[in-house]
Amino acid sequence: MINIDAQNHVRGKSIYLDDIQELQGTLYALPFDATVAHAKIKSLDLEAASKAKGIVAILTAKDIPGENQIGGIIPDEPLFADGEVHFRGQVIALIVGDSEHHCRQAARLIKVVYEELPVIVNPREAQAHGKLIMPPRNFKLGNTEEAWSECEHIIEGRSDVNGQEHLYIETQGAYARPKEDGSIVISSSTQGPTAVQRMVARVLNIPMHKVEIDTVRLGGGFGGKEDQATPWAVMVALATQVLHKPVKMSMHRMDDMRMTGKRHPYSADFKIGLTKDLKILAYEVTHYQNAGAAADLSPAVMERTLFHSTNAYYIPNVNAKAYSCKTNLPPNTAFRGFGGPQGKFAIEAAIVKAAETLGVSPAEIQKKNLVVDGNELSYGQILQQTNAHASWDDCTATYQYEQQKKRVADFNATNSRYKKGLAVQPICFGISFTNTMMNHARALVHIYHDGSIVVSTGAVEMGQGVNTKMLQIVTETFGISAKRVRIESTNTLRVANTSPTAASAGADLNGKALQLACNALLERLITVAQKELNTDKIQINDEFVFANDKATEISWPDLVMKAHVLRVALTENAHYATPTIHYDKTKEKGHPFAYHVYGTAIVEVTVDCLKGTYEFDAVNVVHDFGKSMNTDIDNGQIEGGLVQGIGWMTLEEIVYNDQGRLLSNALSTYKVPDIYSVPKQINIKHLETEGHELAIKKSKAVGEPPLMYGLGAYFAIRDAVRAFNPNADLAVNAPYTPEKVLMDLYKK
Ligand code: MTE
Ligand code: HPA
Ligand code: MOS
Repeated sequence: MINIDAQNHVRGKSIYLDDIQELQGTLYALPFDATVAHAKIKSLDLEAASKAKGIVAILTAKDIPGENQIGGIIPDEPLFADGEVHFRGQVIALIVGDSEHHCRQAARLIKVVYEELPVIVNPREAQAHGKLIMPPRNFKLGNTEEAWSECEHIIEGRSDVNGQEHLYIETQGAYARPKEDGSIVISSSTQGPTAVQRMVARVLNIPMHKVEIDTVRLGGGFGGKEDQATPWAVMVALATQVLHKPVKMSMHRMDDMRMTGKRHPYSADFKIGLTKDLKILAYEVTHYQNAGAAADLSPAVMERTLFHSTNAYYIPNVNAKAYSCKTNLPPNTAFRGFGGPQGKFAIEAAIVKAAETLGVSPAEIQKKNLVVDGNELSYGQILQQTNAHASWDDCTATYQYEQQKKRVADFNATNSRYKKGLAVQPICFGISFTNTMMNHARALVHIYHDGSIVVSTGAVEMGQGVNTKMLQIVTETFGISAKRVRIESTNTLRVANTSPTAASAGADLNGKALQLACNALLERLITVAQKELNTDKIQINDEFVFANDKATEISWPDLVMKAHVLRVALTENAHYATPTIHYDKTKEKGHPFAYHVYGTAIVEVTVDCLKGTYEFDAVNVVHDFGKSMNTDIDNGQIEGGLVQGIGWMTLEEIVYNDQGRLLSNALSTYKVPDIYSVPKQINIKHLETEGHELAIKKSKAVGEPPLMYGLGAYFAIRDAVRAFNPNADLAVNAPYTPEKVLMDLYKK
């Protein structure tokens, strides 16, 4: 099935937040943010700004009727700074006026006097000062202390990996309208309508039933709107409550980049021990997560870093520790992979460092240590239906890795200006929210008596194609055509208490709930047909009722109308909760994931050793889709995730100065991959597997895992740099920008 949004997207007809028809009298809101990273606010003078042309109100912490608190996991984040600021870009006030232009003019008239305090931007420094978001966590398997003595080789090192700007094409925004009796409806570009609803209720001091959140679609989220769509929606809701007017905000790119958090930078110390035959016997890692100034989702992100600290490898003795470090940066947040990529980066760095020390290829160590059925991971989950070897073997065979290696070696032997590099990147990614209680969803299906259907679930469409997958479930269950079905906006009045669309689990969770609802309705309709046609053997195919495998005259609308006349309920609401999963945080053991997704990518790069620039010749992937329910959409997720991962590892460089000021604050200073920097070839092969029962229609979650193929880009470049400069002591510090590559090529 073609993506149901394709036609409208290319014609510009799809509705995003800023396309919503505005009500007469709609006001505009502009957040006013701190220009220092850590300070006491000595005074805030709003006098002149309040009197400026077109200004209706300037709201601050004092105007909040409920709690000035939007922290989801830990209540440590005020909506508006009150008395002190903890990062540049923290919102102090909300300017509301008759136009955005007038709000911007007024912003210049606000005077703040700060008493500046010391600024910390480095996570290791924060940890040394005891500035932590929460106590550290520690995952252990076997006994590393005892294992070291059995290791033939022990290699220690450090890896650093920077953050990443989400750069969703649609910036953050929200539009609130007053309803009766103090109720408010808010259109929000959010992955988590319920998260927004909860915070609006808390800040405005009203029950959740007075807050309706509606989300049609997002122009990209990538995790950046799991938690951080909330403040803007709460701000316009507050303005609507105070002023009884519709209020809208749609952020400018530079404001969005400055005020919102990003992927977490991590710094890690590792120690890896191997036997003579290259089996990894022990691995210790300490992660320093740069959380920024408040918790946001950092505790959950840190948890996933630990869950993925050994990637696709079986290591019998593991000691993985992580600190969530509080710095004076905007709170960092969810980003495709959710801490998993950072955990994997450290183990891959350790393997590459070990390989370089021992004079073997990293692939040799990687392959020898891939997980197999029955392996226990550091958090206690025993792996089943592993596809690590299958995808590795299929990938290296299909794309003729041995020949490729030889070709690259020959090239490097005969070229001095250009060097090629190779990396094999296996992945193993756990599917489910790591927080077990979040793994449930609901769906609501109405069949109208003309035979048309409207579907609501908790899933938010953000370009990943979840609505198309929902549509497939309905049409395939009922045996009807797509034109009969409409997938409605995600709305908290129709589907309540939703988890955000995240953790790649949107299609699985909402799809399974939708399947339950459709099956219940189908059963009722079949019963009607059975009575009507006097046979048990009823099916619906191609819009017609089939009795005893033969088409009848009864069409889908006929059947629906018959059911309605017989007073059969044509609405169903269903709930799905992932079975089998559990986790005990006090022991750090359990079975948190419904299943794992596997795959292998081979990355080939050519580095220009005069300039330090590089081009990716090819990325060849064998991916474990299970039984993909939509190959176009799923292949698109591989391409998008891969390129986003390559961008993170290569060009995208977030720079804050030591005073916490974002220097890479626009698209002129923050480089994302473009058509010229994507690999010249991306080949995607589907691994032959049975799929998994807990995946929707056995079609495995696909949203986040492919991003981690991008890690191979970093190590492929390093391989090429090594071909030019074999002996230098190179750091592991992503992104590997052309500047850093150039320095490494000539490092002594
Ligand atoms: N694809 C597009 N086009 N846009 C997005 O914002 N978000 C990613 C991924 N793919 C994203 C995307 C992230 S971070 C997640 S968690 C999943 O989609 C969420 O959707 P799913 O659970 O339906 O896979
Ligand atoms: N993944 C993505 N988002 C989340 C998770 C997770 O495991 N937990 C809470 N939000
Ligand atoms: Mo995705 S980072 O779980 O929104």
